[in-house]
Amino acid sequence: MDITNYAPKGKIQNKHLLTLKDYSKEEIYEILLLALKVKKEYKSGIKNDALTGKTLAMIFFKSSTRTRLSFEMGMLQLGGYPMYLNSADTQLGRNEPISDTARIISRMGIDGIMIRTFNQKDLEELAEYGSIPVINGLTDLYHPCQVLADLLTVYERFGRLRGLKLAYLGDGNNMAHSYMIACAKLGIDVSIVCPKEYSPLSEITEYAKAQGSVTITEDIAEGVKGADVICTDVFFSMGQPKDPKKEALLTPYQVNEELMKKTGKDTTVFLHCLPAHRGEEVTSGVIDGKQSLIFDEAENRLHAQKAVLLLLLGR
Ligand code: CP
Ligand code: NVA
Repeated sequence: MDITNYAPKGKIQNKHLLTLKDYSKEEIYEILLLALKVKKEYKSGIKNDALTGKTLAMIFFKSSTRTRLSFEMGMLQLGGYPMYLNSADTQLGRNEPISDTARIISRMGIDGIMIRTFNQKDLEELAEYGSIPVINGLTDLYHPCQVLADLLTVYERFGRLRGLKLAYLGDGNNMAHSYMIACAKLGIDVSIVCPKEYSPLSEITEYAKAQGSVTITEDIAEGVKGADVICTDVFFSMGQPKDPKKEALLTPYQVNEELMKKTGKDTTVFLHCLPAHRGEEVTSGVIDGKQSLIFDEAENRLHAQKAVLLLLLGR
């Protein structure tokens, strides 16, 4: 079964989006195909107000541009109300337990929670103690909404997903984890190209390897050979201190013009979840060059998220 012959059902089993580990291949297709549909409708000026009267609480323990903009605009465009909550301005910032917060939010007539935080456990606790859907807007372990937008971008470019190769270079972080899981499930050959000191977590790698084709390698030439998609992320994720040793180990994995040529394909595209540090993990020549799809990718956060919101809050 490929995305091209998947017949959408208009619903998914999952109540929450905590990690793509919980999602089947079919559920990921469901989101992507709905995202394509809502994008097309939106571009043609067709109004979709399926979330009229629904409220999404958006809790941020970390900074954000794209995630906030896309969830906020996504809710507004669907007729709903996005409620922005900076953790520092709430009692969460003064250590009120997540388990209490979950029950309180659930009793206020709020329909869903999007949270960006550090610990994946906090999401699990929100989901366990609350009664409404919880969506992961990034944790230290995963960034599923970003990877959904990336897959949408790749599908729009190539017209398929299965059989493509994606190579991620750099830190084995939340983006690397979510790429491994999603790509393996969807039949995309995924290579994480990184120094062994910054490999993805072994339990997530083992999980992804059991789902599909996953390679972890230090060898850049081998890792990027034949890649249809090259992507990278910052050396230091939010909450991580700058560390010269880490920077020195990751610098050889910079995505530059020479590395892009190593794929051996002139159709290879470049993705970056953003924000980017030009001159560190990627050169300006690549990120601002013609292979780069970064702004389509950022826009697709909006469309992918609207699909997630419709599927989780729209029932
Ligand atoms: N890519 C992404 O999640 O961007 P923000 O940190 O700006 O939300
Ligand atoms: N890995 C990055 C992604 C930012 C969108 C971080 O967690 O800061």
